[in-house]
Amino acid sequence: MSRERLHLLFFSPCGGTAEVNRALARDVDADLFLHDCTTPAARQASLHFGPEDRVFMAFPVYGGRMPRNLDEVFRNIAGNGARCALVAVYGNREFEGALLDLFAIAVKKGFLPVAAVAAVAQHSLAPQVAAGRPDAEDRNQLAAFGRRIMAAMRTDARLERAPGAYPEWKLPRGASLFPVTDREKCVACGQCASVCPAAAISEADFTATDEERCIVCAACAKYCPTGARQMGAPENREKLAHHLLTAASRRKEPELWLGGTAR
Ligand SMILES: Cc1cc2nc3c(=O)[nH]c(=O)nc-3n(C[C@H](O)[C@H](O)[C@H](O)COP(=O)(O)O)c2cc1C
Repeated sequence: MSRERLHLLFFSPCGGTAEVNRALARDVDADLFLHDCTTPAARQASLHFGPEDRVFMAFPVYGGRMPRNLDEVFRNIAGNGARCALVAVYGNREFEGALLDLFAIAVKKGFLPVAAVAAVAQHSLAPQVAAGRPDAEDRNQLAAFGRRIMAAMRTDARLERAPGAYPEWKLPRGASLFPVTDREKCVACGQCASVCPAAAISEADFTATDEERCIVCAACAKYCPTGARQMGAPENREKLAHHLLTAASRRKEPELWLGGTAR
């Protein structure tokens, strides 16, 4: 019998989502393929799966939903009957309607969802929140989930619907954490533009950011080598961190939902 093929597909501006996806695959015995769909350049090539492929697709939670460029990320992706696991990675607040969004687009794109996972990674806008996660405990739980998901994928198990509920509020566009650049510190290296998942940073002027395109993912600030780029003013970042550390301080554990079988 030929070996199973497991594809790890992820959109991970600050790296936490990718870490969770790799942890899920840690103890799986299969041929592994990585598909980092974070940048527009990485999304140029078409990604067409088939019925024998297994796909763990992992995305970060923004405002209790999927990132608003989700359709764009999936543009060149086709499931063609591949079984998939939906993975929402969040910063220990809530994942709310994120798995509902991911379920809807996965089905629309021809995947067969078998399982859903919600797991925590460091909060990309407030790194003091969920710092160090996924940690060793998370990784062990996620690795066990990965094996259970692969076992379910060998059956006719199907996830009928995704867990969660849409939030009543909407993430404000841009607002107080929109990235700003200190021109004194910027050395025009272009690192920010090369990691931007939304092509929002001008190649002609790395200090300019397109407010319509920017998804406020924080990758430009995280990977800026001189600290010239920051997410909003320091007091705005402090306010968010303080709010999250008080309102969402209880540690949330990884969760797994497995679909039932028709038999
Ligand atoms: C714009 C934005 C909105 C976010 N909204 C939420 C949220 O609603 N709930 C939550 O728990 N974490 C939220 N987070 C935190 C991310 O979901 C979390 O840090 C995730 O691991 C980021 O993925 P990445 O490291 O792969 O970029 C948000 C982060 C950003 C940048």
